[in-house]
Amino acid sequence: MQVKYDFSGKNVILIGGTTGIGRATALAFAQAGANLFVAGIGAEFGNSLKEEVKPLGVAIEFMETDVRDSKAMAALHQKAFERFGRIDVAFNNAGVPGKTAPVHELDDADYDLLMDVNLRGMFNGLRHQIPHMIAKGGGAIVNTSSLFGVMGFATTAVYCASKWGVIGLTNSVALEVARKNIRVNAIAPGSVMTPLLRGMFGSEQGAKDTVLPMIPMGRISDPSEIAQLVLFLSSDAASFITGQAIVIDGGGFVAGADQF
Ligand SMILES: NC(=O)c1ccc[n+]([C@@H]2O[C@H](COP(=O)([O-])OP(=O)(O)OC[C@H]3O[C@@H](n4cnc5c(N)ncnc54)[C@H](O)[C@@H]3O)[C@@H](O)[C@H]2O)c1
Repeated sequence: MQVKYDFSGKNVILIGGTTGIGRATALAFAQAGANLFVAGIGAEFGNSLKEEVKPLGVAIEFMETDVRDSKAMAALHQKAFERFGRIDVAFNNAGVPGKTAPVHELDDADYDLLMDVNLRGMFNGLRHQIPHMIAKGGGAIVNTSSLFGVMGFATTAVYCASKWGVIGLTNSVALEVARKNIRVNAIAPGSVMTPLLRGMFGSEQGAKDTVLPMIPMGRISDPSEIAQLVLFLSSDAASFITGQAIVIDGGGFVAGADQF
């Protein structure tokens, strides 16, 4: 059974929307009729996404923006609000894997990169999205955490810390706006075959060797499967869900320590 969402006439900002999960989600929103304002690093990815989306007949804008830069993030949101008048959905998805190594082998720059992109970047989105959605009477926000936002994993300590932080931010902001018709949720994906996963474990094979033994369903997920969760949480089908972090991981989390 194919689930079909209808986002026609809705406007979505996707930050970290150029590759991997973000790109798959942008395509799924476009197929469901939404107009898109996409940000991320790499104009070539943004431009190729625009080409891919064009035949679907929805509006799409791309603006290369570094989520660590608060001025650039203010400008991005200003542009998106001017372009579409109203942003109904925000997907805060930008993230980096950082260096995979024990914590005592990381330096200040390793720490700063992870916390600045994965956590400050989200703060830099929420601080603009929330007042806009309050003024417009509502909206839905989805933030990308990780399975590593609900568990620890040796050699990714600061990545884990940043993703646990995303859930703390999500839960607290959800409470701040619960009576403003704004829902704020997080997704916590397990392993998804994207450039980030390959980067974290050195290669596609390195990723498979490390994570496959920990996934009861016996496979790494496709970004399009994560996109479906983002669309669900952004849709009226999730109208009473807020402040949640939904794990989507082929059973890895509930299997827990049995896997090791
Ligand atoms: N792939 C996985 O297994 C997995 C699992 C759990 C969570 N995640 C999370 O999913 C999100 C998307 O990752 P992905 O796996 O699709 O990888 P990806 O590398 O394909 O995508 C990362 C996205 O973030 C953007 N980005 C990176 N640094 C940025 C910056 N400084 N400013 C603005 N944008 C920036 C990139 O341009 C890209 O659009 C990340 O937050 C990641 O932590 C991924």
